[in-house]
Amino acid sequence: MQTDLFIADENSPAQLAEQYRQKLNQYNYEYYVLDAPSVPDAEYDRIFKLLQSLEAQFPALITPDSPTLRVGGTPLPAFKQVRHTIPMLSLNNAFDDADVLGFVRRVEEGLQLESGKKDVIDYSIDLKFDGLAISLIYQDGLLVQAATRGDGTVGEDVTENIRTIRGIPLRLHDKNPPELLEVRGEVLMFKEDFIKLNACQREAGLKEFANPRNAAAGSLRQLDAKITARRKLRFFAYGLGALKIKDKSLQPTTLTGLFSWYSQLGIPVCKERALVSSADELLAFYRETEQKRDQLPYEIDGVVYKVNSFELQQQLGFVSRAPRFALAHKFPAQEQLTTLLDIEVQVGRTGAITPVARLAPVKVGGVIVTNATLHNEDEIRRKDIWIGDVVIVRRAGDVIPEVVTTIPDQRPVTAHRFEMPTHCPHCGSVIVKLEGEAIARCSASWIKCSAQRKGGLWHFASRKAMCIDGLGGQLLDQLVDKNIITTAADLYKLDLTHLAILDRMADKSAGNVIKAIEASKKTTLARFIYALGIRHVGETTAKDLARFFGDIYPLMEASEERLLQVNEVGPVVAKSIMTFFADPLNRKVVEQLLAAGVHWPKSDMPASEHLFLGKTFVLTGTLPNLSREEATALIEAAGGKVQSSVSKKTSMVLAGEDAGSKLVKAQELGVRIISAAELRQMLSG
Ligand code: IVH
Repeated sequence: MQTDLFIADENSPAQLAEQYRQKLNQYNYEYYVLDAPSVPDAEYDRIFKLLQSLEAQFPALITPDSPTLRVGGTPLPAFKQVRHTIPMLSLNNAFDDADVLGFVRRVEEGLQLESGKKDVIDYSIDLKFDGLAISLIYQDGLLVQAATRGDGTVGEDVTENIRTIRGIPLRLHDKNPPELLEVRGEVLMFKEDFIKLNACQREAGLKEFANPRNAAAGSLRQLDAKITARRKLRFFAYGLGALKIKDKSLQPTTLTGLFSWYSQLGIPVCKERALVSSADELLAFYRETEQKRDQLPYEIDGVVYKVNSFELQQQLGFVSRAPRFALAHKFPAQEQLTTLLDIEVQVGRTGAITPVARLAPVKVGGVIVTNATLHNEDEIRRKDIWIGDVVIVRRAGDVIPEVVTTIPDQRPVTAHRFEMPTHCPHCGSVIVKLEGEAIARCSASWIKCSAQRKGGLWHFASRKAMCIDGLGGQLLDQLVDKNIITTAADLYKLDLTHLAILDRMADKSAGNVIKAIEASKKTTLARFIYALGIRHVGETTAKDLARFFGDIYPLMEASEERLLQVNEVGPVVAKSIMTFFADPLNRKVVEQLLAAGVHWPKSDMPASEHLFLGKTFVLTGTLPNLSREEATALIEAAGGKVQSSVSKKTSMVLAGEDAGSKLVKAQELGVRIISAAELRQMLSG
């Protein structure tokens, strides 16, 4: 054979190919299993291309576990059917604490443990991933088949598609692999990849996916695996199917044992797990997980409790199609069906018109939802949402509920399309939509349009701006509607007599509002700039501007050139700031606010002397005798900025002990790396 010829040579193509394969497998493992990449994506791509061209030259070098097989081959005419040797079952669901207590009681009864010995049952808890179930079969360490769950007995052969998932090893990391191993787990799409995918779909004029689960399913079930390869899918293993292993002593006896074995074999398992032994602990894990649900990079719809010991699992057995040893404890659903009763428009502080869906009340994620945003007119058209439609509403964490999609099959004959109003419902001015902009706006200024005034005042009083507690929407609406206040400066002229005449205003709460207004006078320059509500000036830009100019007057007088010197201020933002301060009314409001006593600590250092002005820092690892918050405060006080990820533009990386991938990236990009001691030295010198 031709390949044998090369093996003798140290740098033979065969050996090179092997080196490349090892490297690529290592990079995948570090990225997807250890969650600690050691090289940038570009390096993976570079080696991948080298291997691809080598294999193109010497096709005999292609091995069945070559990473180049992850790109997908010729499209299939149809998926083959696969019969599962062990059926893929479903789980019983729990929706409240009582269901969980019932499960624990049944497990204890089922195992007929003597009373007093109940604490010997360990439960392994993992997350209930919102993706799709997959079975992976490894024969002598090599991935030979992957199948969907299907109806639990017969699924579809998606081996070619599964190969494209870089986190799934094509060969197990074991010199003496089991004869047969069936890994069961979930294929899913991370939230950020889902958002990116939908953005691409939108740009290409294709239909967007309703949620990451649909996106994962749609991406996996492609007859052309090249499409799957372009989508970023992930995998987490959570169970075991068939297993044939010669050395029985290596066979795991518990789920926790299985998870650590999987990690050794290079199979991704999720780190969010627990091993507990009481119902209280099960419930505590559920509550903790519910709290962090929104921060996780992927979607989950609950947690799964499983008896940890395989022997006890077997003793407990199954009832109909679900195991007695496991239970899925579901979170309140984040999506529900309801009817879209009407679409109204809301006018924001900048005049932006947002269509809002009025919905038949429905409980989503534990809260009754009656309104949801529809973003803008184009979005309504693209999603083909009609008034009267049955729609899916989604509410995740603190975000505003949104209408995800419509169910056209259930469209009633009375349903009709939404027409954007031509005039502002609040001030009657014409609504305009500029070429190329998605947002329609009320053409009047806030002086004429009460909705814009209310929006502006609400923003001014909001938590991240002047933080006036108790000055909510309803109170502001009344104050504006009764012409008691027009501008933010008028807030500081309010007294108890003004508030006493308003509906639902008790003496005590009126007193509290007045106190909160008084307290808000002591603020920071950044908050004040943000509170003004200048278009395109968010919290971060406000901080940058405050740091750069040190006071409000230099900002009010700043030229475009000067503004462009500020970190991340581009022509659009600069123009918006200049337009704002060119308006005599805005300048007057600022003067009045200052005259009313709004103040902030004066910066004693002229901005130009700020040591770290325009510099960006990234922190990594544990810093000796310095918390991250302290380090951030020191850097910010010297005019610098702290960012979360390293790029070519990063000025310095402040690295402590156990610094991880950020340090590696900084080294690769040649970014300057400093220690906490060096930072202190710079600041003192
Ligand atoms: S165990 C015999 N663990 O939930 C029980 N399933 O209703 C086998 N799922 O379609 C399932 N996360 O795709 C198990 N950590 C987890 C899971 C999980 C999600 C899905 C699975 C299946 C459904 C079962």
